[in-house]
Order: sequence, then structure tokens, then C-alpha cells
Amino acid sequence: MTSIGIHDLELATAHHVLDLTRLAEYNGTDPAKYHLGLGQDQMSFPAPDEDIITMGASAALPILERNGAEGIRTLLFATESGVDQSKAAGVSVHRLLGLPRHVRVTEFKQACYGGTAALQAAIGIVSRFPGERVLVISSDVARYALDSPGEPTQGAGAVALLVSADPALVEIEPATGLYTDDVDDFWRPNDSSTAVVDGALSVSAYLDALTGSWDDLQAHGGPGIAEIDRLLYHQPFTKMAKKGQQRLARHTGADLSAALTAAEQANAGDARDTGLFTGSIYNRRLGNSYTASVFAALAALLDHDDDLAGRRIGMFSYGSGSVSEFLTGTVRPGYARRDRAERVAAALNARAPLEVAEYRELHGRVFPSTQDLETPRVTSAPFRFSGLLGRARQYERR
Ligand code: CAA
Repeated sequence: MTSIGIHDLELATAHHVLDLTRLAEYNGTDPAKYHLGLGQDQMSFPAPDEDIITMGASAALPILERNGAEGIRTLLFATESGVDQSKAAGVSVHRLLGLPRHVRVTEFKQACYGGTAALQAAIGIVSRFPGERVLVISSDVARYALDSPGEPTQGAGAVALLVSADPALVEIEPATGLYTDDVDDFWRPNDSSTAVVDGALSVSAYLDALTGSWDDLQAHGGPGIAEIDRLLYHQPFTKMAKKGQQRLARHTGADLSAALTAAEQANAGDARDTGLFTGSIYNRRLGNSYTASVFAALAALLDHDDDLAGRRIGMFSYGSGSVSEFLTGTVRPGYARRDRAERVAAALNARAPLEVAEYRELHGRVFPSTQDLETPRVTSAPFRFSGLLGRARQYERR
């Protein structure tokens, strides 16, 4: 059987960053609550001329530059912060990237799970047409109300994957664990720019979905816990991955390290290190990137773990509402790309810091779609949202 999986991967984020210590100072919270309690140091925040489309196109561009567009006949765009009720965001990305006309483009939605659904759909397409390659883009801006408990868990980011036969990075294995449960833990009504969330319920729903999808993986012949070398989780905030790891350890009886920081790692004793700390390196600085979060964890692991060749990775994807999946893959020899680690670090370091007052003003800025406008030129990314014309969103390459 042909091996299919992730051939290439790239991460992009937004122009601005808010340091959570500044947010804590502003609202009188102990900064340790954010840094240790939630496991978050920063959040990316988009400039007025950025959105899911500009970030998604920016993530995909280097993949096309490295691999060309040959064989790409499908572009799947996953998001839960969609900018139009009808048009798929990927159609604008298709034009910005100069992809050929003979490409199908569509949008996937199921909260943070949508990117994983798109990855599975891509694998299905490649298994039918092994010569084709599928571009999967997960891109989101996570936004909660100002002064709400969810506020420090906002963020923004996009990850683009190129899915193909005989992949260079990770071969995705066929057995998978699924779990769906209709629960009102987190959602975004059509007339709201911020998510509505029942925080405590969302945490317990996530953990129940984790064990539910794990059990389904086992029922479908997936590998046992001892056969999985690294474990990655959807990270709405990185401490959530630690909670997941602790739940999975209890559920399986395995001694898995729950060390989320370098200091905790030094004191982890004999517990098995499955990459919890390594997989959180990017998300700790991006904040929640919803659909992209689990793939940002994968990027961080691939970029910072030198001993992955031939190793099996387990990945838990959770989308509130809720749909989740536990999938596994094996890392291919030659996966290591130091240049990507350097690029991501440079992009994170280059973000323009926001003062809390500036952040709050940007957070509240909503462009009514009923009037034409030109957005201010702020972003230094390759693409920008240039404004509205006749209620249609306009994009350009810088
Ligand atoms: N020093 C160190 N730690 C501290 C501290 C301090 N001074 N003060 C508090 N803490 C710790 C708490 O003990 C707690 O740790 P534990 O969870 O390990 O007990 C942690 O900081 C958070 O404190 P609270 O529980 O008091 O935090 P909160 O009620 O203000 O908010 C939250 C937490 C509910 C997760 C909130 O951030 C939220 O609503 N976030 C959005 C929803 C979310 O991300 N849910 C996750 C699952 S849903 C999902 O995964 C989909 C998705 O992407 C949204």
C-alpha cells in the first residue's frame, strides 16, 4: 500500500504580539497564572490588514516555492474564524498564490478540528489519485471578549501542509480514533466576532473526547501507548496539553512525563518523555490558533527533536462542539529542517509588540461590510487584506 502523509509543512503568524505579562499587569492578575497556570507567554495579534486569508497564503507560499504547484488539484482551507458565509477563504488564497484554474477549493469547518478533517480528506484524494498532491491550510484568529477568562488564550496562526504519496516528513497511519459529542462548550454565533465559551465545560469535554477517541483508536487496531514515541495535542493553551497527557497516562496506566517546561523536565524522574515540552514551544508564543494549533505542535516537535526518524507520533485533535480524532504517523528519515526552525523563530521574534491600550483598540475595531474602505498598510507579510469594495473583501500581494 502506498504511504501517504505530510510531505512539507510551514507556519505563519500575525504581525503583532501582546506579551501576557503586560496583560496581567493591566488587569491586576498574577503573571504566573498566565505563564504557569495556562502555560502561555504571548499571543499573536493580526494587524488591520491581516486575516485568516493573508496568514494562510503566507504559510502556503514557501511550500509552493520549494515544491512547485505540479499535481496540486485540491486546496482545502480549514478555519473556524471564517470571513464570509459563502465563499471559501481558499479561493482568495488560490488567486494570491497564482495556482492554476484546474484546482478544486473548499472550506472545512468544525471548530479546531477542521484541519484534521481536511488532512484526512486530502489523504483520501491522494489514495485515489497517487500522483496528485493536496494543499491543506489551517488558519485562524482566536478571539474572546475583552476582560473575559478566555482573553489570555487568544492568538493567531496558520499552518500549511502539502499532502502527498511517499511523504518526506510524516506518514499518516490508516487506523484512527474518532469521537463526536453534541456539547455547547464553545461556539461563535453568526453575529459575533468573539467566541462564546463555557470554560470549565470545554476543559472537561476536551478530556472526555481524548479518552473517547483513544478508546476508538484501540478498537480499530491502532498502536498501544507503549508503541507511541511522542504525543501531541491540540493546544488552546499549552497547559491543556499537560492536562491531556495526565488524563491519558491515568487512562492507559502508562508513566508519561507531564513536564511542560524545561524546569519541570529536569525534575521529571523516570517518567517517559513524549515531547510535551518540545511540542509546546511555538504555541506558547502564538496563543491559540484553533485549527492550526495541533499542526503548530507538530512543527515545533519536528523542528526541535533530533531523534524522530522512524518514531511514531500520536496526535490528538479536538474541535469544540465537539468532534475529535486521535491519529498516528511515523516520521520519515531526513525530516529535519533546521532552516524552518530558524524561520519560525525569526518570524516570532520579528512581531511588533503592542501596548495593552493599542491591543484593546485593535480588538474592538470592526470593519462594517456595508461601506467601501482601504485598510492601513501595516503588515510586513507577503499578502495583505487591502479593504472592502462593494462589500467584497480585497487582497493583494505586497
Ligand atoms: N500562579 C500559578 N498558577 C495559577 C495562579 C497563579 N498565581 N492562579 C491560577 N493559576 C492556575 C490555576 O490553578 C489553574 O490551573 P489548573 O487548571 O491546573 O487548576 C490555571 O491557572 C487557570 O486558572 P483558572 O482555572 O482560575 O482560570 P480561568 O477560570 O480564569 O480560565 C479557562 C481558564 C477556563 C481555560 C479560560 O482561559 C477559557 O475560557 N479559555 C477558553 C476556552 C478554552 O481554551 N478551553 C479549552 C478546551 S476547548 C478547546 O480546546 C477548543 C478551543 O481551542 C477553544
